[in-house]
Amino acid sequence: LRDSEHAIRTAAEIAAKFIRDEAASPTPRREPKDLARSLPLGLPRQGAPDGEVLRRLAQVIEATPSSSNGRFFSQLFGGRDVAATVADMLAVVTNNSMYTFKAAGVQVLLEREIIGKLAGMVGFAPPQGEGIFAPGGSMSNLAAMMVAREEMLPGTREEGVGGGGSGGDDAGGGRPVVYASAEAHYSIAKAMNILGLGRRNLRKISVDEAGRMLPGELRRAIRGDLARGLRPIMIVATAGTTVQGAFDPLPELGDIAREHDLWLHVDGAFGASVLLSEKHRHLMRGCELADSVVWDAHKVMGAPLTCSVALTKRRGLFERHIGEAADYLFQADDDELNPGTRSLQCGRRNDALKLWCAWQAHGDEGYARRIDRLFEQAALVRRIVEEDPGLVLSCPPQSMTVCFEVAGRSSVEICDRLDRSGELKISYGIVAGRAVVRMVCVNPDLSDEDLREAMAAIKAAGRGLPEQDNAVEKLETQAMG
Ligand SMILES: Cc1ncc(COP(=O)(O)O)c(C=O)c1O
Repeated sequence: LRDSEHAIRTAAEIAAKFIRDEAASPTPRREPKDLARSLPLGLPRQGAPDGEVLRRLAQVIEATPSSSNGRFFSQLFGGRDVAATVADMLAVVTNNSMYTFKAAGVQVLLEREIIGKLAGMVGFAPPQGEGIFAPGGSMSNLAAMMVAREEMLPGTREEGVGGGGSGGDDAGGGRPVVYASAEAHYSIAKAMNILGLGRRNLRKISVDEAGRMLPGELRRAIRGDLARGLRPIMIVATAGTTVQGAFDPLPELGDIAREHDLWLHVDGAFGASVLLSEKHRHLMRGCELADSVVWDAHKVMGAPLTCSVALTKRRGLFERHIGEAADYLFQADDDELNPGTRSLQCGRRNDALKLWCAWQAHGDEGYARRIDRLFEQAALVRRIVEEDPGLVLSCPPQSMTVCFEVAGRSSVEICDRLDRSGELKISYGIVAGRAVVRMVCVNPDLSDEDLREAMAAIKAAGRGLPEQDNAVEKLETQAMG
């Protein structure tokens, strides 16, 4: 595009139209074949004129599903924070790579402000605590677990797991084992794979009715592993599980970690944001006992994807266990001002500006109101379920998620129907062996009326379906049949 100013204005118009249109009416799901047939998806040999490029861009944006239209309940993000959105657009325009102060200047300072603020709320206040930005909770979990692996199995970074450091069988220390709840996010298993610890060495500890890890079961598993000569190294607690929104009991897990000298990591990708609310921060009680905590601002705080931070209680660990030297890159300034010395990535997009800008708009108080409103929404959804004999609550909700069934109707089919018609994007999860509809409250801009309508749509979608049991074993039998 030759005229960049005109192109940027046109892009802003495309964005404004997308926002206007998304609110208007349900947009039915469009199938891949239909999209491929009707849109200019191919990569041309010859570049097109400016007007044509912008026209194609507008067409593709128009066909893109909205996560902000008030009908998106499908994952743990949704809605639009305008301050964060416009700031993120500008982050793309300035296009700084966040590895050095030389390349990103003041943006590095904003990032440092955010890390300091979040670390302080967790109880890891600088100068002791520190953090890095990573592209999402999965990568933040990986970064924290990478640090933990080296702290618990010194030498692994150099020699590999079982390669002669104190990590693993060869070193006589026994195979390293990690503990997480059965409801932990799959990124923990992925990290076990990536870190060479092995998915089979992740113990999935059972949970109570609300989805919280059972400390007694954890103790039993650790004792069993020790008796077999294995080497427990880490407990991964979840603060806000993906399906039920449950918070593991951090004080008890902290005690167990201390007793056995284990690393305690808290995956707060979903739930750490409750720390912003005086009313609800008790759910994170004990997080200061952790060695590392992950916090996604692109979920409950409403920042556009991605915006995630991994925090450690002790300073210097990321640089020591993840960092590499690069003469061509880290030339000027103190390492403190060069986050690339301790991040997973080399080139790294600016995820700080959007959160900083949103914080300017909301302040601590606005974020507290946001969290309180999300809990109010969840309480309303719970009431709607409890007061309707046609709906069945699946578990006691602990935070911003309410799981339920439309009695005798397939949760899987309901979610599929609503997606196809464009009425709602909502997902099912498995709770205690049953497929359940998972309503997540992460968009504070929704009114009570919006939520009532969404719940009515879910119920109506179930009405047209045949009787079916949501027990997973039955679903599997039916699918095979
Ligand atoms: C508890 C938990 N941890 C980690 C993640 C992964 O976060 P991300 O999608 O940002 O990689 C999720 C995502 O839903 C989650 O629910």
